[in-house]
Amino acid sequence: MQLAEISGIGKYAGREVCLQGWVYNMRSSGSILFLQLRDGTGIIQCVIEKSALGESLFEEAAALTQESSLEIQGLVREDKRAPSGFELGVTGLKIIQVAQDYPITPKEHGMTFLMDHRHLWLRSSRQHAILKIRAGLVRFIREFYDNRGFVNCDTPIFTPNACEGTTTLFETEYFGDKAYLTQSGQLYNEATAAAFRKVYCFGPTFRAEKSKTRRHLIEFWMVEPEVAFADLDDIMRLAEDFTVEIVGRCLESYRDLIVNVLERDPAPLERVRAPFPRISYTEAVEILRGKGIDFEFGGDFGGNDETVLAENFDRPFFVHRFPAAIKAFYMEADPEDSRLSLSVDLLAPEGYGEIIGGGQRAYDIDYLEKKIAEEHLPRKAFDWYLDLRRYGAFPHSGYGLGVERTLAWICGIKHVRETIPFPRLLNRLTP
Ligand code: 4AD
Ligand code: MG
Repeated sequence: MQLAEISGIGKYAGREVCLQGWVYNMRSSGSILFLQLRDGTGIIQCVIEKSALGESLFEEAAALTQESSLEIQGLVREDKRAPSGFELGVTGLKIIQVAQDYPITPKEHGMTFLMDHRHLWLRSSRQHAILKIRAGLVRFIREFYDNRGFVNCDTPIFTPNACEGTTTLFETEYFGDKAYLTQSGQLYNEATAAAFRKVYCFGPTFRAEKSKTRRHLIEFWMVEPEVAFADLDDIMRLAEDFTVEIVGRCLESYRDLIVNVLERDPAPLERVRAPFPRISYTEAVEILRGKGIDFEFGGDFGGNDETVLAENFDRPFFVHRFPAAIKAFYMEADPEDSRLSLSVDLLAPEGYGEIIGGGQRAYDIDYLEKKIAEEHLPRKAFDWYLDLRRYGAFPHSGYGLGVERTLAWICGIKHVRETIPFPRLLNRLTP
């Protein structure tokens, strides 16, 4: 018999197939059981009649518990009322395991309970939808760069030095030496950009952030393009095209999940069109002050500041030229005001805040030597990086986009913890 999957079951209409999956839900009505079968690709109603299975198998089927695993045979029938448009008229059944009392029931559960049961929670329809969109988002991200001639050059996870400041470094032992988990692949991207011109890395990054906010993960995925000979404006244009494309493709491919399963209003996503507003840090500070926020020039924006700024815009917007003092050592100084840096963040609307951070890289070796010393970074570990300024120094720029924050925004969910299969949080390493 044909082994089938629920997504695309329509092509088997009128034929008998075998499905493999888990009991999502079941109700009975006399001598008929209505079993919702979940196979990972979708959910379908299976109609089980006593006359088709015989007394004893029917009794066993009636006793199936939520998440019991089984193989089920039946005839694919069109059913206009069913969400999938089809149902299965069951002709045979093989029970693989009768599940113990499943901890996650249709009733309400607290967040801690659900996070403790993340390994099971992934089966529920909301989580399933979010992670399906994540898989699509990752694909669209890669395709954007692949289609534009970027070379994917992945960067190491064990590194000898910090990229984004020493306060969020994860230290680990490396055969008698110290190593750190990568905070960003950028420094390595700068080397590969000199070899391939346009590159990107895409992988997990680690920040020992002591913050317990809805935007912070300890382990998150970041895609980082780097472009030789690009300046700040070039990289803003790239980030704009990129954001428009990935949001557009998510809407195009997952509108049903976004609107119907996640109940997210698609209108703000539909407005994600170029051009995005561009404001300087200095202008952003004025906006905040104009709204009565007592913001000191030179400080970094907190989540609340970003939310207030976003009220002025109906789409993502860039904030550029932050003070050099609050950005990483590698940022190029603004030639018009050396207190500022050629840095840029892209902020998502609706209170989602920063999803992209990047900028133009300093390429003068003396300037970088000075910054490395000022920030007390271990000079020796940066030797190879400074070589890039010794052998054909070149202006270049890039940025990093955090997958989880971007996905939270696209899905319209408050907290990044639901945007990665197994989140690592300040207070959570399990499951
Ligand atoms: O602004 P960040 O720290 O930039 C960099 O790491 C640069 N070296 C990237 C580059 O230019 N190649 O991080 C970039 C993005 C943020 O905008 C945010 O989306 C995400 O990474 N991010 C986090 N996401 C979740 N949890 C955290 N703790 C994050 N920290 C940064
Ligand atoms: Mg940043």
